[in-house]
Amino acid sequence: MGRLDELQKQALRDPETYWAQAATDIDWDKPWDTVLDDSGAPHFYRWFAGAECNTCYNALDRHVEGGRADQPALIYDSPMTGSKKSFTYRELQDKAARCAGMLRALGVEKGDRVIIYMPMIPQAVVAMLACARLGAVHSVVFGGFAAAELATRIKDAAPKVIVTASCGLEPGRTVEYQPMVDEALELAPDIVQKVVVVKREQADWTLRDGRDIDWKDGMDAAEPADCTPVAATDPLYILYTSGTTGQPKGVVRDNGGHMVALKWSMKNIYNIDPGEVFWAASDVGWVVGHSYITYAPLLHGCTTILFEGKPVGTPDAGTFWRVIEEHDVVTLFTAPTAFRAIKKEDPTGALVQNHDLSKLRALFLAGERCDPDTLHWSEEILGVPVIDHWWQTESGWPMISNCLGVEQLPVKPGSPTRPVPGFDIRILDDACAEVPRGEMGAISIKLPLPPSCLPTLWNADARWIDAYLSDYPGYYKTGDAGYMDEDGYIYVMSRTDDIINVAGHRLSTGAMEEVLAGHPDVAECAVIGVSDQLKGQVPLGFLVLKAGVDKTHEDITKEAVKLVREKIGPVAAFKTATVVPRLPKTRSGKILRGTMAKIADGAEVKTPATIDDPAILTEIADALKVVGYAQA
Ligand code: COA
Ligand code: AMP
Repeated sequence: MGRLDELQKQALRDPETYWAQAATDIDWDKPWDTVLDDSGAPHFYRWFAGAECNTCYNALDRHVEGGRADQPALIYDSPMTGSKKSFTYRELQDKAARCAGMLRALGVEKGDRVIIYMPMIPQAVVAMLACARLGAVHSVVFGGFAAAELATRIKDAAPKVIVTASCGLEPGRTVEYQPMVDEALELAPDIVQKVVVVKREQADWTLRDGRDIDWKDGMDAAEPADCTPVAATDPLYILYTSGTTGQPKGVVRDNGGHMVALKWSMKNIYNIDPGEVFWAASDVGWVVGHSYITYAPLLHGCTTILFEGKPVGTPDAGTFWRVIEEHDVVTLFTAPTAFRAIKKEDPTGALVQNHDLSKLRALFLAGERCDPDTLHWSEEILGVPVIDHWWQTESGWPMISNCLGVEQLPVKPGSPTRPVPGFDIRILDDACAEVPRGEMGAISIKLPLPPSCLPTLWNADARWIDAYLSDYPGYYKTGDAGYMDEDGYIYVMSRTDDIINVAGHRLSTGAMEEVLAGHPDVAECAVIGVSDQLKGQVPLGFLVLKAGVDKTHEDITKEAVKLVREKIGPVAAFKTATVVPRLPKTRSGKILRGTMAKIADGAEVKTPATIDDPAILTEIADALKVVGYAQA
């Protein structure tokens, strides 16, 4: 039996002993009473119940005390501004302590929520760690979301304070945050008391009396705050992710289990040692940014890179290689779409030759299905193992991965390999029975989930049960479909719901439909994900107009595109809509989105037996051809 099998066997047979052993790598203020509290089974499980700890202490203070004070903890590299800055563990600790003091002076205490709406600047990481230090609960909102999305999160999380910046920087565009924050606070009034603003030189912010505090002034005046012990089961953060409606799901992450799993993952999955440099080219607004820009590398005593730029165009497709060389990056983690973008600009990977990448040991990819072409191309140009691994906002760390620090398994293109020890993954049919190897089914995880996975949704226990636990009793429903081969490798093929992955960003077509349905001329609509060579998938909208609308179709589709950008944000990448006379439906009225997606992708389409009127499919194909799709 291989080492991976051995660990998996131990983890599943006796999870408590297995995870208690991993937990010895964390500093606890008080030990746990129970490793796994299952008193709320079959829906609620809590790891390390009774223990007390502090995540910021384990990420910073512990290393300062343990001899890493002068090691770089965070390197900010921003081709967007042409600046670079390195912070040692001591410096980052000092900043986090001051920021915690500033937040405390603004009334933030243990358990209070703080929304962090920021671009990729060091203050974003400092603010996250400061909340952790106080035991406050942060909720980072990705900068590419619009005011309405920010408002939804404010209403749900009810933060006392928002920490933000005057702007984000996108290639060719300065994204001013003040109009969005002001609008969000109008949409969600009487909740937020204070707004802390990092003023960047690229855009100003007019401080509103009594509400806004300049980050610099607040930090200068602050008394550094010490680490507040919290229960291991207390929330560290809430991260909102797309659900199947416009109301996003507030994924809750605890403190204790999260630390244990992330610390374990650094050596065992990523095979990286303390003191080495880890780079997750993602954004702090996504789960990858939470786990592998901020928390895991710091918990492990590594140096983390905060990169404000894009894989291409900042300034060119060699940026990643420059960063790897300059900062001695050992492990790079990004989404396959980033490599597709680089390949498009530099198909032979010629720019790699200009750099010394000898320190790089592995590339990890996640966020969307990794197509074999991208896998092979990346392997060829980098000459290191390229590891596809699968995870979700809900897990906070990889659920299926080649665990390089345990035992490197052969790569099978199209598969993220086998379950990480602790994840009991089964492929189920609709009756909750396991399907034979090689057959498609719902990728499900037998409960209890291992540490770091969400214990519930913020303020929404019923939704947690309904969305994840009801369809397959005893299992967590991942929402992904796929199959397991004879060797236990899992192939993640598609979603079973309306989630699409656009450039590694998780979006809900249902949320876009809700926005489009709000257009005064739209009677009915549908949004589907269609294949895209660069982004993996992009959304495409179908609009059925109300009778008597006399605007041109071009005007209406332009308005629809603008509306989604305004309500959800540019990140939705909703650029194409088409007007159709009617939508294909089953006789019971269900819109046949899957069939429309197949037509758009030029795939073979079998007319569904339940379709109300097959002639509609021809109308859809014709409409799609006009906007450049359905070219089989
Ligand atoms: N703030 C404001 N706007 C943002 C934003 C942010 N933080 N992030 C993205 N946007 C905007 C983009 O500028 C773009 O706007 P546009 O429609 O005016 O061009 C839009 O949202 C769509 O963004 P995206 O889908 O990311 O496309 P892109 O063309 O800007 O970049 C890639 C494409 C592939 C280069 C980029 O998505 C990428 O690097 N992805 C891989 C890494 C990653 O972030 N993965 C996430 C999880 S691991
Ligand atoms: P997010 O919550 O944003 O991390 O998105 C999670 C979803 O992204 C998963 O449920 C999958 O649909 C998809 N995903 C993430 N990683 C992979 C992968 N390696 N292969 C296939 N799909 C993936």
